Amino acid sequence: MTSITVKPAAAIKGEITVPGDKSISHRSIMLGAIANGTTTVRGFLRGGDNMATMGAFRSMGVEIDDDGETLIIHGKGLHGLNEPGDVIDCGNSGTTIRLITGLLSGQSFFSVVTGDQYLRKRPMKRVVEPLSRMGARILGRNQGSLAPLAISGGALNAIGYESPVSSAQIKSAIMLAGLYADGDTSVREPSLSRDHSERMFRLFGASLETFNSGVTVKGGVELQGQEISVPGDISSATFFIVAALITPGSELLIRNVGVNPTRTGAIDILRTMGGSIELLDQREVSGEPVADILVRSSRLKGCAIAGNVVPRAIDEFPAICVAAACAEGTTTISDARELRVKETDRIAAMATNLRCLGVQVDESDDGMTITGAERLSGGTVESFGDHRIAMSLSVAALVSEDGITVSDTECVATSFPAFFPLLDKVARG
Ligand code: S3P
Repeated sequence: MTSITVKPAAAIKGEITVPGDKSISHRSIMLGAIANGTTTVRGFLRGGDNMATMGAFRSMGVEIDDDGETLIIHGKGLHGLNEPGDVIDCGNSGTTIRLITGLLSGQSFFSVVTGDQYLRKRPMKRVVEPLSRMGARILGRNQGSLAPLAISGGALNAIGYESPVSSAQIKSAIMLAGLYADGDTSVREPSLSRDHSERMFRLFGASLETFNSGVTVKGGVELQGQEISVPGDISSATFFIVAALITPGSELLIRNVGVNPTRTGAIDILRTMGGSIELLDQREVSGEPVADILVRSSRLKGCAIAGNVVPRAIDEFPAICVAAACAEGTTTISDARELRVKETDRIAAMATNLRCLGVQVDESDDGMTITGAERLSGGTVESFGDHRIAMSLSVAALVSEDGITVSDTECVATSFPAFFPLLDKVARG
């Protein structure tokens, strides 16, 4: 297990880019693989999660050329995937396993999907149940609620599904299965989760309608390969946004970041806390809003976080917790029960780690209350094998008394392989 010690920084300065968006990178391979013709992808994120998706589609006979810059995916059409010769290993990636399970439900072959020790603990019933309703036969551990999952797919019935949680993974799994169903498949969620699937389905020529917090996909419509430019991942950018906000004297420009409104909850929350964050040169690339983000250090104040903003910031809570720990007053997070079933239980993990740094944290079932501290003490904290926990605590170290050692940092490679060198660079100005 690798441990990394991050020292306090004088200021965070410079101009950076962050790696490509993880969600968009996954979807570009999935849709490229089942489209007709070739799909070209620039800015693809070469992290562990996305490489798992690439491996999965290669194992189903999809040719993907990768020169280290650009991917060329040779699409096989809706019905051209081959039965994989072995179990598909999704690694740590919830998006890979859940979305692929939807796609495999529509294939007339047998497949098995699994993942690492963390993924095999995460809930799968949330996709198995609606996909089974569509006619897929899916078996898994613990009555189909845990991976490995064994899938016998084939002709599917269209359904209308009311998801009990706002989840882009549930929505997208059903949308992918919907491409193979005999009619119009609809998914509605309590409030809108990230809509990258909706945008990319449209780009590839799927027949799709969106309404309030729902989407309808027509089955049997062939997709056409596209050229995609993946913007920088706002979830990766958020670590640097928080780093610049909490470290006095900082000014940081992050270029070419995806600012899809279903993903910018953290910007809204951090601005409410008093953060100086400007979106410059807003534009649209491959159907996604993109901007450059200018951040200046700010005196943050605690706030209440609840409701519709939660799914729009769902992956950013570890970083938001660090901002709250450095803010004046109290921050209350609620309606965020989903954090308990991420790569690790992120409520418990952040509460444990922030307490180690001398911060007062009270956990609730669906969130936590964090009382800002004058100063974070140093010490050793744990990632619990979760990339976002590791990166958030590394950011907290920048304003700690004498540095923080984060243990088990290999997991950072799932979404941001070059995180530590980049943090080091901006911390040295
Ligand atoms: C993702 C959806 C979110 C998010 C995950 C990526 C996606 O998960 O946490 O990192 O690409 O669809 P949920 O749908 O479970 O909220």
